[in-house]
Amino acid sequence: MGRMLTFEIFRYNPEEKGTEPRMQTYRLEETANMTLFIVLNRLREEQDPSLIFDFCCRAGICGSCGMVVNGRPRLACQTKTKDLPDHIVLLPLPVFKLVGDLSVDTGVWFREMYQKTESWVHTRKVFDPSREEERMDNAVAEQIYELERCVECGCCISACGTARMRDDFLGAAALNRVARFVIDPRDERTDKEYFEIIGNDYGIFGCMGLLACEDVCPKHLPLQNQLGFLRRKMGITAIRNLFGK
Ligand code: SF4
Ligand code: SF4
Ligand code: FES
Repeated sequence: MGRMLTFEIFRYNPEEKGTEPRMQTYRLEETANMTLFIVLNRLREEQDPSLIFDFCCRAGICGSCGMVVNGRPRLACQTKTKDLPDHIVLLPLPVFKLVGDLSVDTGVWFREMYQKTESWVHTRKVFDPSREEERMDNAVAEQIYELERCVECGCCISACGTARMRDDFLGAAALNRVARFVIDPRDERTDKEYFEIIGNDYGIFGCMGLLACEDVCPKHLPLQNQLGFLRRKMGITAIRNLFGK
């Protein structure tokens, strides 16, 4: 017989007028290789069909199952109950708009962030489909690929002290995204142009550098390196701006 697990789960549906946020307790016997994905689906199927949460891929790829598990943002489909105590508290990710219970809207947040950071390759070259593809150095392509592995789960944003205090702070996922374009040789933006976007308090200079973002990133993205890289680059650009260079 497995451990009897107790789950305390945040419940609130903003669509249901007159209801208040509350915690609800459920109990479930642990099975081999049980993940929080299995737990929540079993709870919904066997005990409470009204429970709201998001899942899509079950494989850590879609990024939709981020939630706070015993105080730490995690992907529920990648979290095994065997690594947790027998009392598990589940809360929705803070910072993002609550849809209901454990479901938040990360899509709107990421779309706004992509617009603010102009998250596309800026080039004056006109695309010619009849031409051979441009070649890129392997090492640079791999560096870009590494940063493209972000699954937009929102865990880094929810763990970030600055993002939780200030809703205009871009956050680690956004700064990682900007770093991806800075190293892309096809993007013709200058450091001064990047400075306009992130050389301020809601960009790289608002970051406190305590690196909760990297600690919780389920894809183990090198966020610390990217934040350091951008801070140095934007620091130098700030000095050049001061001296009009
Ligand atoms: S290092 Fe910066 S971006 Fe990362 S959690 Fe801390 S304040 Fe947020
Ligand atoms: S950087 Fe990591 S934690 Fe942040 S959104 Fe991307 S995958 Fe999630
Ligand atoms: S369900 Fe897709 S990342 Fe968890």
